[in-house]
Amino acid sequence: MLKAIVLCAGKGTRLRPLTHTTAKHLIPVANRPVISYTLETIRSAGISDVALVVSPTNRDEFERVIGDGSKFGMRISYVVQEEPKGLAHAVWVAKDFLDGEDFLMYLGDNLIMEDLKPFVDDFKEEGVDASILLTPVEDPRRFGVAVVEGGEVIRVVEKPKVPPSNLAIIGVYMFKPVIFEGIENIKPSWRGELEITDAIEYLIESGYRVKAHVVYGWWKDTGKPEDLLEANRKVLETLKGTSIKGNVDDKSILQGSVDIDEGSIIVNSVVRGPVVIGKNSVIKNSYIGPYTSIGDGVSVDGCEIENSIVMEESVVMNISERIDSSILGKKSRVVKSSEKPRSVKLIIGDLSSVEIP
Ligand code: G1P
Repeated sequence: MLKAIVLCAGKGTRLRPLTHTTAKHLIPVANRPVISYTLETIRSAGISDVALVVSPTNRDEFERVIGDGSKFGMRISYVVQEEPKGLAHAVWVAKDFLDGEDFLMYLGDNLIMEDLKPFVDDFKEEGVDASILLTPVEDPRRFGVAVVEGGEVIRVVEKPKVPPSNLAIIGVYMFKPVIFEGIENIKPSWRGELEITDAIEYLIESGYRVKAHVVYGWWKDTGKPEDLLEANRKVLETLKGTSIKGNVDDKSILQGSVDIDEGSIIVNSVVRGPVVIGKNSVIKNSYIGPYTSIGDGVSVDGCEIENSIVMEESVVMNISERIDSSILGKKSRVVKSSEKPRSVKLIIGDLSSVEIP
């Protein structure tokens, strides 16, 4: 039976301060952890036995949020990668879980709007040793890059200075257990990591067959704040229609696709979708603009917010400027103060970012 591993041990340094308290794969996009979209995609491809490769520090949070996988209709186990020694090393530590089965490997911080069933089915039918998902990109130097001939990969190279093609490896792979032979035969790269790309190159050089599967849909490596906002927009774009479980008063106007969950109240406000609002939030005298996700228990009064992610239990009040392209972590507080002297008062975590017009 095919299995899957999702690699979630990365630290998410470019998303600090959010990642000081939340694993980057668990940051909400359209009010759901990024990784939940990945798990659904894997499930739809017909795989339900999955291990998340986590780090010693984020393991507890994953177990709390994702649990045993029953809410996704799958069985989820956890494998701890003690040290960040590279993607091939992450596969190595999952060896017992994989137990000699063919498997799908998915880099947990990548979001791919692609049905993976054809990719998985082709791999099963063709009997190749590995298959990798590729997409043409403008600047391949940031990725693993593949050279393809007649549908098969004839060379892969990690972050080449002079890319031999424009086909980037986008973080979804199928492997037969022979990949472990590749992993045993590689050395750490210049960045000190065991690269899965090098293990794949070993397979090719040893005469094993690696299939290319080129896709053209949207995908994103959600490594930076602007990537999260883009992912949020992409997911919200797929919202269809309006669903209101909370309460909207007569003075409020809803436009476009708006999803308001139980216990939330909209008072004297304009909500222009696509927007999701979680449970027990209060939006008063405000404008919530397109591509905004408001989490549970949030309070917004007298503000305009657009293209933003506001996480649970945050409070945003009486801000005269429109809040745009912003990400507010859990229990954030952004309020106008009338205290004298007039000043901007900030109590923000390490590596936070504030831009004031
Ligand atoms: C990793 C892989 C690289 C791949 C990329 C996709 O790079 O090593 O081959 O193209 O993910 O996001 P990293 O994100 O570790 O730099």
